Amino acid sequence: MCGRSRTPLLWKEKVMENEALSIVDKRTQAKYEIPVSNGTIRAMDLRQIKTGPDDFGLMSYDPAFMNTASCHSTITFIDGDKGILRYRGYPIEQLAEKCSFLEVAYLVLFGDLPTEPQLKEWVGNITHHTMLHETTKKFLEGFRYDAHPMGMLISTVAALSTVYPEARHVLDPEVRKLQMYRLIGKVPTIAAYTYRHSLGYPYVYPDNELSYAANFMNMLWKMTEPKYVANPILARALDILFILHADHEQNCSANVMRSVGSSQADPFVAVAAAAAALSGPLHGGANEEVLKMLDEIGSKDKVPAYIEHVKAGAGKLMGFGHRIYKNYDPRARIIKWAADKVFEVTGRNPKLEIALELERIALEDEYFIKRKLYPNVDFYSGIIYQAMGFKPEMFTVLFAIPRTVGWLAQWQEMLEDREQKIARPRQVYTGHDARDLVPIEKRVAKETAAM
Ligand SMILES: CC(C)(COP(=O)(O)OP(=O)(O)OC[C@H]1O[C@@H](n2cnc3c(N)ncnc32)[C@H](O)[C@@H]1OP(=O)(O)O)[C@@H](O)C(=O)NCCC(=O)NCCS
Repeated sequence: MCGRSRTPLLWKEKVMENEALSIVDKRTQAKYEIPVSNGTIRAMDLRQIKTGPDDFGLMSYDPAFMNTASCHSTITFIDGDKGILRYRGYPIEQLAEKCSFLEVAYLVLFGDLPTEPQLKEWVGNITHHTMLHETTKKFLEGFRYDAHPMGMLISTVAALSTVYPEARHVLDPEVRKLQMYRLIGKVPTIAAYTYRHSLGYPYVYPDNELSYAANFMNMLWKMTEPKYVANPILARALDILFILHADHEQNCSANVMRSVGSSQADPFVAVAAAAAALSGPLHGGANEEVLKMLDEIGSKDKVPAYIEHVKAGAGKLMGFGHRIYKNYDPRARIIKWAADKVFEVTGRNPKLEIALELERIALEDEYFIKRKLYPNVDFYSGIIYQAMGFKPEMFTVLFAIPRTVGWLAQWQEMLEDREQKIARPRQVYTGHDARDLVPIEKRVAKETAAM
């Protein structure tokens, strides 16, 4: 575990002398030199730019963080224009081909790939934290039969906070490490139980002799057989999907994790909050929406009409477009490859034909080319998951399992970063000036926005 004083090397190395931005404030004719480091200026350096002593100072306005770096990070590198994704410097393609998910989880969390003894110890630690307290199992039993698995996952992960109250000591690295084992170990168990719950099947306890993915499959699909044996091709495909979803730098849910974690809330409630962000259809919920869209389209010949409907502004092509990738999402390419392996076992998902046609037409269409809209990770993942036997409601839950690792890495890095404080953006107030209260009997009803 890295110490609190660690300064990211990348930042230190790239600070160049004489790199500065000259600003002339036309309001006052004052001149300022603002240092530039790593292609950024510090927003706080703008505060000195004032029109007078009573002026608060200049701020930057950036809704949806379109051009604001909120942290230094050494975890994940993305070049959206070139379609590059690396964890701790390693290309995602190499990691997906050569590593297991838990090996990659170790890398994402601790910065380097484990040696064999380190991996053995790490896998042992995760494996020994897969069981849920029986009260947590009962908590899960309390959900309605048709509860959405993502709602169950979010609430149950938050409820773990009551089972492990010591988790609130977030500044203690040893306490943090234990909660990481627990979260990475238990999230698949909760995920599997949400699935069994929706089917009305009894929950299956973890089998510590199995790999991370195979044990998850065991908890999902074991029926009366004494020992569950996972299909090795499907288990490996699931492991690869987990690797692809482990982290994705400062996305919406990672930002929530850092933001909630910055108040020093415990990691269970912070992961629950991050998972809530993931559940939205513009984030991890998109893979479920892709399947709904493919169902709505129905057949390959209806694809051109659907594309026209999207271009007319009647909806979005789910699984297309990305805030950062303006080129093919590298994860989508690997998923397409994994899909072929899965289909060798399960048979081809008929929705694949529609998806391939959708991709083919969209990639040739001026509307999508101009806006740099390419398939993202969610476009094909749902099709594989469905072929493996998952219901669409489970797709985002499947995303949350590996992303727990990324959230924890981002949280850990945030807590160790001396520059970080409680996250608290500024606003530009555009409401009323001070006004006097009118007694209720004299107020006149106005059309108001929804409360
Ligand atoms: C991911 C996403 C939220 C990124 O949004 P963003 O960076 O804010 O991009 P914008 O919404 O500004 O989109 C830019 C333009 O492309 C269009 N666009 C973006 N995604 C589109 C899609 N999937 N289908 C059709 N048009 C899309 C927008 O309408 C906009 O067009 P305009 O310039 O004519 O107004 C967005 O692409 C999207 O909603 N995709 C579908 C959901 C999805 O797959 N999410 C998973 C992400 S991994």
